[in-house]
Amino acid sequence: MNVLLLGSGGREHAIAWKLSQSPKLSKLWIAPGNAGMEQLGEVVDVKVMDFDGVVALAQRIHADLVIVGPEDPLSAGITDRLTAAGFRVFGPTAAAARLEGSKDFANQLMANAGIATSRSQTFDDPDAAKHYVRDCAYQVVIKADGLAAGKGVTVCNDTTEAEAAIDRIMVDRAFGDAGVRIVVEERMYGPEVSAHAFTDGVTIRHMPFSCDHKPVFDGNIGPNTGGMGAYSPPGWLDDTTAEAIRTDVTELAVRAMADSGNLYSGVIYPGMMVTANGPRVIEFNGRFGDPETEVLLPKLRTDLLEICVAVADGRLSEVPVEWDDVATVGVMIASGGYPDAYETGKPISGLDSIDEDVQVFIAGAKRDAQGRIVTSGGRVLCVVGRGASMDEARTRAYDNVARISFEGAHYRTDIGATADQPLEAVAR
Ligand code: AMP
Ligand code: GLY
Repeated sequence: MNVLLLGSGGREHAIAWKLSQSPKLSKLWIAPGNAGMEQLGEVVDVKVMDFDGVVALAQRIHADLVIVGPEDPLSAGITDRLTAAGFRVFGPTAAAARLEGSKDFANQLMANAGIATSRSQTFDDPDAAKHYVRDCAYQVVIKADGLAAGKGVTVCNDTTEAEAAIDRIMVDRAFGDAGVRIVVEERMYGPEVSAHAFTDGVTIRHMPFSCDHKPVFDGNIGPNTGGMGAYSPPGWLDDTTAEAIRTDVTELAVRAMADSGNLYSGVIYPGMMVTANGPRVIEFNGRFGDPETEVLLPKLRTDLLEICVAVADGRLSEVPVEWDDVATVGVMIASGGYPDAYETGKPISGLDSIDEDVQVFIAGAKRDAQGRIVTSGGRVLCVVGRGASMDEARTRAYDNVARISFEGAHYRTDIGATADQPLEAVAR
């Protein structure tokens, strides 16, 4: 099969790496890809939001399947465009991707389906929103309704912070049109877990649970990032809660989407918070998480290409999906200064000294004029170790992290450190 993968991050490197193991793969193209994927397929410089370019590329290579990595093209309707052009696509339609693209849509779906989440109220008018937060009996979280590259959320400690966030989103339009409408949510407390599943809209194949570490520094200190690392599985998540997430969240959501006429196909990934009152949805995502994918796919025993084709064709019931019962830890190495301003173009050394059973997934690196691999993004690469235990996986990952270097490189030293602690001890 000829496969076109859209995206350019560590998530897409992990997907490309897994696809390349498939006996069914004839050739893989990745657009726009990155330097890490050159050995796995042909990297083509077409941007994911250039829909005409994507369709033309799919036609030129006679793609049998297009896999969409990131959320923006999904919300903008890349699946619909490609499907109309006759292609088989892995990823939800624009109507289904509203589950991630519109917090308001997701909240209404959850209310109708009886899925537990925080109380919330939607506003189109900043004054009404401010009035509401002033009178609110609980702490709030302010969210831009639309997609804001993961940055449209402010967890507020008091009313002043809440009002400032409303102004930033609705008045200053810090996230453009994503802030025409905001959602004010009740603030929840507890550790977070990512619940991924494959679905064709009817059949659901749950993936192992995983967790990412968003704050930039050890101990969850500092500003949020795109994710400084991830691990799987969380030992602190008990079986009852895990089952409640599978049945009362993921399965209910997929059924509610089908019932509403928006068959949901692709990856569904509710971001969950495990609160004192049980698991609650923070948000739904309509794609693989990053960096969760980097720690999930190394455990996948089944052919990823076979799964993606079955999902796209609505035949997932015919494909059992199996996972290795191992622990994985992925440590992200970032550019100096990230998540604030950082420099790029720093040569990366040590990539040829990595152990065979350890994966390095490139998130932001390119080849310079001399052919060297140099940094090109804030998050540069993710080093993934696996082991029979979380401790073994951590040791494998960090042993290899220590061999990689570039000027200004920094990473957290505590990825996965709380994985096997009791729930009460798992810091957020
Ligand atoms: P999101 O972009 O919706 O994933 O939100 C980013 C982060 O904000 C989440 O990972 C949580 O840590 C936090 N967050 C979002 N909503 C809530 C909430 N209702 N209560 C507490 N924290 C939240
Ligand atoms: N790991 C968070 C996300 O992919 O949205």
